[in-house]
Amino acid sequence: MKITICIGSSCHLKGSRQIVEEMQSLVAEKNLKDQIDLAGKFCMGNCQNGVCVTIDDDQFSLRPEETKSFFENEVLTRLQ
Ligand code: FES
Repeated sequence: MKITICIGSSCHLKGSRQIVEEMQSLVAEKNLKDQIDLAGKFCMGNCQNGVCVTIDDDQFSLRPEETKSFFENEVLTRLQ
């Protein structure tokens, strides 16, 4: 599974760095490094909302404080 987090300037201002760091620690904590490929990408053209995050081809818009629930609801459920 590939998770891409936008690190473009608009998303950066909305806290993408915090999301990247939290995702990294969640992946490490759950021992999922072999299954999840985390990547950063510049502007994905979806700056209107929160930080743009994609899981494979699905696009989401996140606030940093939603990272943990996003991880549990969208990432972990897809791995099962
Ligand atoms: S800066 Fe993230 S989608 Fe544009």
